[in-house]
Amino acid sequence: MHVHLIAACLAFTGYIATPGVDHFGDDIRNNGSAWNAATECSNLPNCKGFNSNGWIKTAAAPLAPESSPVCFYTKIPGSCHSSLKMCETMGANHGQN
Ligand SMILES: *[C@@H]1O[C@H](CO)[C@@H](O)[C@H](O)[C@H]1NC(C)=O
Repeated sequence: MHVHLIAACLAFTGYIATPGVDHFGDDIRNNGSAWNAATECSNLPNCKGFNSNGWIKTAAAPLAPESSPVCFYTKIPGSCHSSLKMCETMGANHGQN
């Protein structure tokens, strides 16, 4: 996956990155890294977002300010139904897996 920096957050195609916020609770699991979480969240229809610590979540709101350098990624509705390839065609980035 091709990524680039927006503010302090990596950008993942199909997600809106917000620096310095997090959503507490509604965890599905921790997939270890933002990279794994992005892949896993895109595979799960009930995943609505994830954070840069690797937590994938069934809800992406409300977002609360976080003092640690965390980024929250909100899935863009309809952009990632079944595969990352689909996300790429909808997103602003040109990803390559
Ligand atoms: C995320 O974690 C689950 C459960 O351990 C695992 O089955 C899945 O392969 C992981 N996904 C990625 C992209 O690492």
